[in-house]
Amino acid sequence: MILVTGATGLNGKAIVREFARQKHVVRALVRDLNRASASGLGDLAGVDLVEGDMRRAETLGAALDGVDRVLMISTAGDDMTETQCRFIDACRTAGVGHVVKFSGRESNIGYDATKFRFTRMHEEVERYLEAVGMAWTHLRPSQFMQVYLRDAPTIAAEGAFYLALGETELSPVDVEDIAKVAFRLLRDGGHAGESLDMTGPEALTMTDIAARISQATGKPVRYVDVSPEQRRRNLLAAGIPASFADALDEQLAERRRRPKSRVHLATHEMFGVKPTPFVEFARRHATAFGGGA
Ligand SMILES: NC(=O)c1ccc[n+]([C@@H]2O[C@H](COP(=O)([O-])OP(=O)(O)OC[C@H]3O[C@@H](n4cnc5c(N)ncnc54)[C@H](OP(=O)(O)O)[C@@H]3O)[C@@H](O)[C@H]2O)c1
Repeated sequence: MILVTGATGLNGKAIVREFARQKHVVRALVRDLNRASASGLGDLAGVDLVEGDMRRAETLGAALDGVDRVLMISTAGDDMTETQCRFIDACRTAGVGHVVKFSGRESNIGYDATKFRFTRMHEEVERYLEAVGMAWTHLRPSQFMQVYLRDAPTIAAEGAFYLALGETELSPVDVEDIAKVAFRLLRDGGHAGESLDMTGPEALTMTDIAARISQATGKPVRYVDVSPEQRRRNLLAAGIPASFADALDEQLAERRRRPKSRVHLATHEMFGVKPTPFVEFARRHATAFGGGA
C-alpha cells in the first residue's frame, strides 16, 4: 500500500488526484475526515481516506498499517521539522520500507539554503531521514507556478502584480508535473538514496511572467517592482501571518542576492513527464487571472 500525507494541501491533493486518474489505489492521510470529504477527496475512486496526525504516532496505526511506501508532505510552518521527524519515527516503528520526502530546492544559482528557514528545515529533515535506516528519496521542487495565483486578484482587477524581485529570475514548476513524477515514483518504487531536483522549463524574470500571463489571458499585464518593505506591508494587509512574512523576507533577500536561476529537467526526463511551460499553466488558470470572460 502507498500512503500520501498532506492530502488536503496543494500538492497532496494533486498527487492523490493523479492516482485516481490512473486508477491506482492509494491511501491518503488527513487530519479531519469530514473536512477532507467535503473538499472532494472522498469522491475519488480508489482513494482510501484515513484520519491521523503526523505528530502523534498513537493516531497513525490505521494509516500506516501494511504501508510499503510513503510520500511525506506537511505545511511549511514553524513546526515542520518536528512534525516530519516524529512522522518518520512512526514510519520506522510501523515497518514502512521507503519514505519519499517532499522537500524543496531553490532554483537560484548559488542560493544558500541556510538563509531561509524552510529550506534549512528541509535539509534537517533530509539528514534525519537518511540516518534512520529506511530507504529514502528526496523530491525537491523549486517554486511552484501556483504561487502566482496569490497575485491573481490584482492581475484580474488591475492588470498588475506587485513583487520585490527586480530582475531576479526564478524557474517555477507546475504542481501537476510534480504530481505526475510523484505518482510514477511511488507506483514503481526504486530511486532509493537519490535526491530528485525539479524546476520548470524556463528561467523567468517577473516581467517575463507578466508577458506570459498576458499572452494567456489576452489582456495587458504588467509587473510592478516594489520595495521589500512595501511587499511585506502588502502581505500583512492580505492576512499573511507575521511569522510567515518573516520567512518570505528571508527567502526574498537571498533570491535578490542570487538573481540567476537554473533550469533542471532531469527528473521530468527520468519519469517521462513533459515540462509544462508557464504560458500553458497560465492558460489553465486564465479565468482566475482575469481572462476568458
Ligand atoms: N511554496 C513553494 O513554492 C514550495 C516549493 C517547494 C517546496 N515547498 C514545500 O512544499 C511543502 C508544502 O506543500 P503544499 O503547498 O502542497 O502543502 P499545503 O498546501 O501547505 O498543505 C499541507 C498539508 O499538510 C497537512 N498537515 C500539516 N500538518 C499535519 C499533521 N500534523 N498531520 C497531518 N497532516 C498535516 C495539512 O493538513 P490540514 O489540511 O489538516 O492542515 C495539509 O494537507 C512544504 O514543505 C514547503 O516547504 C514549497
